[in-house]
Amino acid sequence: MSHFTYRDGALFAEDIPLARIAGEVGTPFYCYSTAALTENYLAFADALADLNGLVCFALKANSNLAVIRTLARLGAGADVVSEGELRQALAAGIPAHKAVFSGVGKTRTEMEFALTAGIGQFNVESAPELDALSHVASGMGKTAIVALRVNPDVDAQTHHKIATGRSEDKFGIAYEDSAALYARGETLPGIDMAGLAVHIGSQLISLGPFRAAFQRVAGLVRELRSAGLGVRRLDLGGGLGIVYDSEEPPHPTDYAAMVRDEMADLDCELVFEPGRLIAGNAGVLVTRVIFVKHGASKRFVIVDAAMNDLLRPSLYDAHHGVEPVIEPAPGAALSRADVVGPICETGDVLAGSRDLPALEDGDLLVLRSAGAYGAVMASSYNTRPPAPEILVNGDQYDVIRARQSYDILLARDRMPDWLKETPRDDHRDPG
Ligand code: LLP
Repeated sequence: MSHFTYRDGALFAEDIPLARIAGEVGTPFYCYSTAALTENYLAFADALADLNGLVCFALKANSNLAVIRTLARLGAGADVVSEGELRQALAAGIPAHKAVFSGVGKTRTEMEFALTAGIGQFNVESAPELDALSHVASGMGKTAIVALRVNPDVDAQTHHKIATGRSEDKFGIAYEDSAALYARGETLPGIDMAGLAVHIGSQLISLGPFRAAFQRVAGLVRELRSAGLGVRRLDLGGGLGIVYDSEEPPHPTDYAAMVRDEMADLDCELVFEPGRLIAGNAGVLVTRVIFVKHGASKRFVIVDAAMNDLLRPSLYDAHHGVEPVIEPAPGAALSRADVVGPICETGDVLAGSRDLPALEDGDLLVLRSAGAYGAVMASSYNTRPPAPEILVNGDQYDVIRARQSYDILLARDRMPDWLKETPRDDHRDPG
């Protein structure tokens, strides 16, 4: 069920009209629903409840502390890919032992930080990383719990920029090399080889590629065990897709049934790393129309959000549904429009060729499905303060990340000594 619905002609987030938040906070802003986050998390966690699994929310999808804490209270762990994300998980109240550290390029400093915190698992993605981790951990007198991330050479059939499990992708250890590296890991000081990890991509909309990857991993578990090596844990990654447009992704219960089919007899602890599935449809980006411009061949709806706030359409040609905050009258005439931001790039299109009603300056629109990979990918390109974040909970809401002031944006830069003096204004006319 969506928690962003029209009531008496106005779009609400749970029990709060979005227009009210827009009036009080200004636009653009991200708005998340506690009920949606909770429902999405529980749909996944409950489906897998009998599988001895830990659900580690992938913070890269949405790392706002309030969002993380909402999920932590439901029992979520964290999948992190940097010291920064680990710090966010800890600050939000996720215990370190429920955090897994993924990523191809962990620095030694990050390893040290994670070991000091007592992280639950490192997903190791290369031989040099395993050696470095052994060196760092043994030097600290600690043991790093390791899952080797295997690259199963399976095409996730998703956008090529978010497919991670093909042999040509930078992720994971070549399938053929995994058993030997696992065996070597068992001999390294400071390393506890717990098992294997796999993640083949994001926004997967069919189970086939997951199944193929999991079968490869299961085969490797059997091979390792028959060589006398212990495998007690499998991290099956994230990747389950959501509806942005007309996709029909598998329901978490179908995913769980497939996992049960492929993995149950291996008798391993399981870890899952969903991100988008939990946060994606739990958030919208609310924006206000600045101008409507009729170009030679198109209607442009120019809004106050832009690619610096929501990069996905520009980067992946991603589709986000657009809706006016005031519900169009039944039978209202619709016509084509591009919803574009003010950034000086042709690619700053938030939603291209959509059928929208007549719109004018000041009208509010929402871009749907913006709760994952939205705010986290924002920048201040064109020196625009990124959109603030709001969390709604029933009939209450709060600002969970404030809009950055121009003072703070400008204060990031420093003048070197030789530029301290302000340039002379010589009153010449430009040109
Ligand atoms: N685990 C690992 C190791 C990952 O690399 C990712 C996502 C996840 C879990 C979570 O995947 P999810 O359940 O959210 O699909 N910025 C892109 C998505 C990049 C995903 C990167 N890795 C987008 O906006 O579509």
